[in-house]
Amino acid sequence: MNASAAWQHLEPKVAAINRRIDELEWEPSRRNNFVSYRPEMDSPYVEVDGERLLMMSGYGYIGLGGDERVAAAAKAAIDQYGTGTPGVRALAGTIPLHEELEAEVARFTGRENALVFSSGYAANVGTVGALAGAGDTVLLDKLDHASIVDGAQLSGATVTRFRHNDPRHLDLRLAATNPSGTRLVVVDSVYSMDGDIAPLPELREVCDKHGALLMVDEAHALGVIGATGRGIEEHFGGEVKADIKVGTLSKAVPSNGGWIVGSADFLQYLKRHARPFLFSAALAPAQAGAALESLRILDREPERVTYAQRESARFRQVMSDAGMNTGASQSAVVPLIVGSDENAWEFATACRKAGVVGLPVITPAVPPGLARLRIAITAKHSRADIDFAIDAFLTAARQCHLIGE
Ligand SMILES: Cc1ncc(COP(=O)(O)O)c(C=O)c1O
Repeated sequence: MNASAAWQHLEPKVAAINRRIDELEWEPSRRNNFVSYRPEMDSPYVEVDGERLLMMSGYGYIGLGGDERVAAAAKAAIDQYGTGTPGVRALAGTIPLHEELEAEVARFTGRENALVFSSGYAANVGTVGALAGAGDTVLLDKLDHASIVDGAQLSGATVTRFRHNDPRHLDLRLAATNPSGTRLVVVDSVYSMDGDIAPLPELREVCDKHGALLMVDEAHALGVIGATGRGIEEHFGGEVKADIKVGTLSKAVPSNGGWIVGSADFLQYLKRHARPFLFSAALAPAQAGAALESLRILDREPERVTYAQRESARFRQVMSDAGMNTGASQSAVVPLIVGSDENAWEFATACRKAGVVGLPVITPAVPPGLARLRIAITAKHSRADIDFAIDAFLTAARQCHLIGE
């Protein structure tokens, strides 16, 4: 068989994607994906193609991207440990900085011990895969992040989905599963495209009723919800606990990496069963140094969290009073839901012309008819920045006939 014959089955898929991109992005100002942004270190502005734009779709919730203390910690880590580690964590790849970071993650999240992975994606895939396997059942919220879904599918367990944020539906699903294996329920604490929060107390009750484990992904909750940014347990008053908490070091914490917290025994097991931990290089020193310093700053400066909470509530209120659909958002993530994929693309393009980056999320990342701009309010946005963004979004929404004059 020649090479072109070998490619023939893939060609229709490649052509379909390229056609769709051409439909959406037929001129440079309509490009919204894979755009290269040059960030300003001390502001939420970015430069793209010579234009200075206000970034409103970034994940840097507590405003530490570009922080000099974090950058200094990353540089010091390189000076002390080099740019990479010479292996996986189990063999030659562990440095004292990993252990210091793990101690800080455990302390900050209120658990005995922590383990850090080289990404949040790897933490979810590795943890779900270590907790469940053939003969077990993993129950996922319909809107769980792809890394949780992938972990569940790779685990070999039976995978069941329940309706989004619906503990009664989870109850029905659990009643119908095989009680002889592990039953693992996994939810996002804060949903990344909607900004709504999982109903932890009700989920805990249902899991206890059926003897199921409850795992939460704190990716968009750490530094975002709870009075001091400690996530979903603190948000609900601190009494109700999840069995397993995982998170990332790439959102509020401006680095890379993922974490899981738990008992020493459980983490010992995980170290030997989580394949992305065992078979992938350790977190790079600069990343570990930046993450450690960021967590220490978050601990000392909880006002970053309260500021972003207050400003995101204000933003949400102003936008919904003006007629925009902000869905069920309760956090720093505020979707502006506009219907069709084309609406979202036109809206994003008009926002950019008004000086603001609001990035569209379209199918299949969200269900058809629920395309949106995914906006995140961070501690780096001043009140004046947010007011500027509000004006730009509303001007663009009127131009696109999404709201009245
Ligand atoms: C809910 C959630 N979990 C996990 C991840 C993966 O984290 P990372 O980007 O650090 O690999 C993401 C990333 O966007 C996420 O939104």
